[in-house]
Amino acid sequence: MKIAIIGGGPAGLYAAILLRKQRPQAEITVYERNRADDTFGFGVVFSDATLDNFEKYDPPSYRRITQEFAYWDDIAVHFRGTVHRVGGNGFCGCSRRKLLLILQERARELGVNLRFETEIDNESRFADADLIVLADGINSRFREKHIAHFEPEVDVRSNVFAWMGSTRPLDAFTFIFQETEWGPFIAHAYQYEAGRSTWIFETDPATFKRAGLEGLDEKQSADRMAEIFGWFLKGHPLLTNRSMWRNFPMIRSKRWVKDNMVLLGDAKATAHFSIGSGTKLAMEDAIALADAMEQAPTVAAALRQYEEGRREEVEKTQHAADVSLVWFEHVDRFWEFDPVQFAFGVMTRSKAITYDNLTLRAPDFVAEVDKAFARHVRAKGFDVDVEKPLAPMFQPMRLREMEIANRAVVSPMCMYSAREGVPTDFHLVHYGSRAIGGAGLIFTEMTCVGRDARITPGCTGLWNDEQETAWRRIVDFVHANSAAKICLQLGHAGRKGATKLMWDGMDRPLEEGGWDIVSASSIPYFPDSKMPRGMDRAAMDAVKAAFVHAAERGERCGFDMLELHCAHGYLLASFISPLTNQRTDEYGGSLENRLHFPLEVFEAMRSAWPAHKPMSVRISATDWAEGGITGDDAVNIARAFAEAGVDLVDVSTGQTVRDAQPVYGRMFQTPFSDQVRNEARVATMCVGNITTADQVNTILAAGRADLVALGRPHLVDPAFTLKAAAWYGAEGVFCPPQYLPGKEQIFRNSVRDRQDIEDLKIKAKPKTRAELKAEASKPLAAE
Ligand SMILES: Cc1cc2nc3c(=O)[nH]c(=O)nc-3n(C[C@H](O)[C@H](O)[C@H](O)COP(=O)(O)OP(=O)(O)OC[C@H]3O[C@@H](n4cnc5c(N)ncnc54)[C@H](O)[C@@H]3O)c2cc1C
Ligand SMILES: Cc1cc2nc3c(=O)[nH]c(=O)nc-3n(C[C@H](O)[C@H](O)[C@H](O)COP(=O)(O)O)c2cc1C
Repeated sequence: MKIAIIGGGPAGLYAAILLRKQRPQAEITVYERNRADDTFGFGVVFSDATLDNFEKYDPPSYRRITQEFAYWDDIAVHFRGTVHRVGGNGFCGCSRRKLLLILQERARELGVNLRFETEIDNESRFADADLIVLADGINSRFREKHIAHFEPEVDVRSNVFAWMGSTRPLDAFTFIFQETEWGPFIAHAYQYEAGRSTWIFETDPATFKRAGLEGLDEKQSADRMAEIFGWFLKGHPLLTNRSMWRNFPMIRSKRWVKDNMVLLGDAKATAHFSIGSGTKLAMEDAIALADAMEQAPTVAAALRQYEEGRREEVEKTQHAADVSLVWFEHVDRFWEFDPVQFAFGVMTRSKAITYDNLTLRAPDFVAEVDKAFARHVRAKGFDVDVEKPLAPMFQPMRLREMEIANRAVVSPMCMYSAREGVPTDFHLVHYGSRAIGGAGLIFTEMTCVGRDARITPGCTGLWNDEQETAWRRIVDFVHANSAAKICLQLGHAGRKGATKLMWDGMDRPLEEGGWDIVSASSIPYFPDSKMPRGMDRAAMDAVKAAFVHAAERGERCGFDMLELHCAHGYLLASFISPLTNQRTDEYGGSLENRLHFPLEVFEAMRSAWPAHKPMSVRISATDWAEGGITGDDAVNIARAFAEAGVDLVDVSTGQTVRDAQPVYGRMFQTPFSDQVRNEARVATMCVGNITTADQVNTILAAGRADLVALGRPHLVDPAFTLKAAAWYGAEGVFCPPQYLPGKEQIFRNSVRDRQDIEDLKIKAKPKTRAELKAEASKPLAAE
């Protein structure tokens, strides 16, 4: 077999090694345009898990690599004169140059042909090769040559960065967030061998310009960075090696394989440096390719297996890298945070690390985070314990004069079980049991302001006395039997009205018994949905009046809070999104115009609703669709509602148009809440695939939301909050006297269960290489 590998970086060399081990008779040649030791970059990082993989696949190179390594366990975050260190991270660094020399030596030993200073510009010279590996890096000529086939998507990010080195020793992976007169600079730094560290500097384009970095050469910009970070470099120089400032391109390729050619490493996909995974991905690609070549019967089948088997893992890493890079791009959002909360945000930015696992590895750090959170709550006038604080989820909050005992919320959820809009006994039990279950705040399902405002025939309403009486019974029950507050969500279905019950076909039009529907413009939801009538002013007045009347009824029912539903493509959302609003009057066109009617409704309700009671608005912070609402729009929407007197923005997303492309995942809507909260500076509630109390605490402690709503988890677990309180030892959580024996039992057992689980986790966690090294270098204790 003949294999040609274009590119002698980590991907190309490691692929050569593994393939040659598998096929000692194969003729494998690596073509590299540079000289053998002519390599850019300083250090590379690997996690312990990646090193485990290297050990398994090629022990000799693994041993040589790890002999050269610097290990560290801590991440240190420097911010506004403070430093927070968090242990248990297990990373290793080595020089990129040494890594490549080790891989070259190993490849040579195995009989791989290495051709340096050989630039390949055409694959036709490999017509007789069985396999051509395109490992030619981020600017891959071959990916570009076959662009129509590989269909790469290149997203050039806004921040600029430069890769430098230093002799400054470091004992932790170090992030330095540096305020300057021009704006914030960030250094990502780590030691990779004795006396050598990598320094990646990053800043936003405006700060870059203001700092006069544009047009400076390598040496001059290194001098400028040395001035800015001089206090930390302590006289150590910054070293350069092709250390130009550039923008990071996030590359994703639709296809990785063409005939017998396959893309590997940076050529096929990149991952932002802030998660330190570029070289890891490149070498793990080589492993995946080698595995496929071993297992599949033909080269074509192997390449298919590589692409199909590897894509998910690569995309997962890229997603984590995306989330991380966005955090760094928007670091100014968090600049006013308490430093310990800021550091917690750095640690938890890409979702892999959470409140609970930090509690295990760095309990003192989390205790500090909790204290800072409690201090903040105390400053708002709550008599909470700052020395032994409860977890953020169990800290109270106030909106106007409404106090909420904890920050877990039952998200609004239609039960499709009302009769002519009248809530039934099902609703009493449903809301009642969730209130008894300990949530701080319960939202009603979208309750419709008129018969024709309903989504389905099963939706609750609040337009007549019978409905008012039934709702009052529920509110009274909640108030009499729990500490929960209850918020009425009012809405109008708009073009999604007159549809079937969820279990008969979500959003599908009713076949009989439907009613006339309205929207901002006459555009049906599905092509075969009922055609909505675009609203004229008289219809708008009638709808506004219906919202106000329902709000007045809500006050008579005794609701504590009111929410206006402006999300999910319902009537008011249909005004806000440009995809559903094609009006040419003053209610269409610019965002300001599109917000006119929803704000008008909000203001009318706000006037009718008692001044001491809070109001929120639910928005879709993105339509997940081309040309639709984006996170930046959501910030402006939130600002407009905040000016009109909204106390909380309930940040949901999507469900506006059928062809949306939502990106689901754990806590997938939280970044929007984060953006709205920390850019518009309004209180937010986040929601969406948040399933554990650990996630709730992670979100709150990082300042990404003020309240956390859970929908589906509450459907199956009314006592979600009570159970979480037992886990975190939040004794004060409300429990009705009838259930106290159950509370006592779960609190008692929880202490033991938690200890058992934590012990198991600690035992199951293999020691990091840094820990092993530290142990090995400890002097033996005297007998
Ligand atoms: C300037 C810079 C500095 C970096 N520094 C670091 C760092 O310090 N630490 C870190 O972890 N990551 C660093 N990275 C990222 C890291 O290099 C990549 O994620 C990783 O090296 C990807 O490995 P690869 O083998 O896919 O590509 P590369 O390492 O880029 O290797 C591709 C190789 O192909 C060769 N090549 C390209 N075209 C041809 C051709 N037509 N013919 C022959 N040869 C060709 C190139 O010369 C190169 O050696 C850096 C990236 C850049 C751009
Ligand atoms: C059965 C069901 C009904 C829902 N009804 C409403 C509703 O009436 N009003 C609303 O704003 N959101 C509604 N939602 C959306 C939820 O409030 C929540 O935003 C969504 O389910 C995501 O959160 P989760 O992942 O915690 O379930 C509903 C969701 C479900 C599952």
